[in-house]
Amino acid sequence: MLIINWLNSVTGDESLWEKWFPKVYDSLMGPLERRGFGQIRKKLIQKAHGEVLEIGSGTGLNFPFYEHANKVTAIEPEPRMRELSLPRAQSAQVPIDVILAEAEKLPFPDDFFDTVVCTLVFCTIPNPTKALEEIRRVCKPEGHILLIEHVKIEHRFLGQLQEWLTPFWKRLCDGCHLNRNTLHLVKLAGFKVTSVNRYYKDIFLVVEAINKKQSFF
Ligand SMILES: C[S@@+](CC[C@H](N)C(=O)[O-])C[C@H]1O[C@@H](n2cnc3c(N)ncnc32)[C@H](O)[C@@H]1O
Repeated sequence: MLIINWLNSVTGDESLWEKWFPKVYDSLMGPLERRGFGQIRKKLIQKAHGEVLEIGSGTGLNFPFYEHANKVTAIEPEPRMRELSLPRAQSAQVPIDVILAEAEKLPFPDDFFDTVVCTLVFCTIPNPTKALEEIRRVCKPEGHILLIEHVKIEHRFLGQLQEWLTPFWKRLCDGCHLNRNTLHLVKLAGFKVTSVNRYYKDIFLVVEAINKKQSFF
């Protein structure tokens, strides 16, 4: 918080850090991506097939890994992030459109997508429950949800540390919460979780789920 306040006071610009964050995002992620996280993305994203929706695509770090999608529609609410992702969209192996939209209000019809991809995004979405409701709506029955999320860990002290750090972290990292229990929210929303893999001392989860919709026939 102090660093952000200092940065803003030096420039007199309230939103300096918000402007800066998209530009530094790839550099901040670089060491993690090179130490295995990129491979975790690749393995998951290669499973996306058919008509694909990606939520909060940021700078497009997943785009090079789509192989089996017919088409990817990516949504991203932050115009600077979207702009930075366009070269990756253009050089991808499959067609990718990046549109400005929010997960809580998806501009798509019901039962449209075969796969929905979310990576490192449920930590930031202001209303994750509403976003999951929207994803369930636009995803076909039996469609696939692929997630990589960092979550609140079960260890008592470390989990509490995440609670304490979140107010500061949120300001520093564009609204990112360290203390979200995204797996619980996914189950609560009605998805059938088919696999959970844990990485980096259980902070990162790779989750695969199926969109179960009630049929009255
Ligand atoms: C930590 S970045 C992750 C970017 C990318 N998915 C990745 O894996 O590198 C979080 C992204 O979520 C986006 N975001 C924030 N609020 C959102 C919302 N309501 N709906 C969709 N995306 C959102 C941010 O703009 C940002 O690009």
